Amino acid sequence: MAAYLRLGVNIDHVATIRNARGGAAPDPLRAAQLAVSAGADGITAHLREDRRHIRDADMERLMAALTVPLNFEMAATAEMAAIATRLRPHAACLVPEKREERTTEGGLDVAGNIPALRDYCASLAAAGMRVSLFVEADPRQLDAAVAVGAPVVELHTGTYCEAEGEARGRELARLAAASRHGAAIGLEVHAGHGLAFDTVGPVAAIPELAELNIGHFLIGEAVFQGLGPAIAEMRRLMDAARARQAA
Ligand code: PXP
Repeated sequence: MAAYLRLGVNIDHVATIRNARGGAAPDPLRAAQLAVSAGADGITAHLREDRRHIRDADMERLMAALTVPLNFEMAATAEMAAIATRLRPHAACLVPEKREERTTEGGLDVAGNIPALRDYCASLAAAGMRVSLFVEADPRQLDAAVAVGAPVVELHTGTYCEAEGEARGRELARLAAASRHGAAIGLEVHAGHGLAFDTVGPVAAIPELAELNIGHFLIGEAVFQGLGPAIAEMRRLMDAARARQAA
């Protein structure tokens, strides 16, 4: 069992709101600093190809100012490799990216791209980054992550969060089985996408998970209760689920 479940806060949608008016506010760096003081163990930001939220200058400022690990979410492109290699964040999380999608829709097809991803991951690792692959809870994709030399996978929790009733239970079982499999083959296992107060508990209770990355819900909830209290409540729910699981 991972001793402690880290919380990475994704601040992309602070930049979405800023960009709606084209000015400098609200500032994603300020949100990241507030998130850290509220209990975030790391900050995640996705520099998309179309720069719809986070921009290059945001990544530069986050790297320069943050005292916690920065998880740089990126598509596996030559452009992003060049930026990540220059900035050298703590971690690089490779995600599939389609221009027309509203958010990251599915996991990366690692199994179908082993030779290219092996070289890509090796170049990021050589620059000092801990490479993570965002994948569906599919053992084949986890085996492929080991084959390409990635030390970490992040399991896509979107389908679990959107499912209802028994289907949600089945998705949770799939996440739990994939977490066990990942840990058994030597991967560090993270999870994220779509998590909210009402869905985080059962995922946080999966003992093999080491980190959750959560963004959209927290930034939305900040409108109602403030970012600090929203993060503190998420942290409390994660800790309570872990404590119940361990008891
Ligand atoms: N993890 C990954 C790999 C993601 O792409 C995202 C969304 O950018 C998240 C976690 C966070 O998802 P959400 O914003 O829905 O909490």
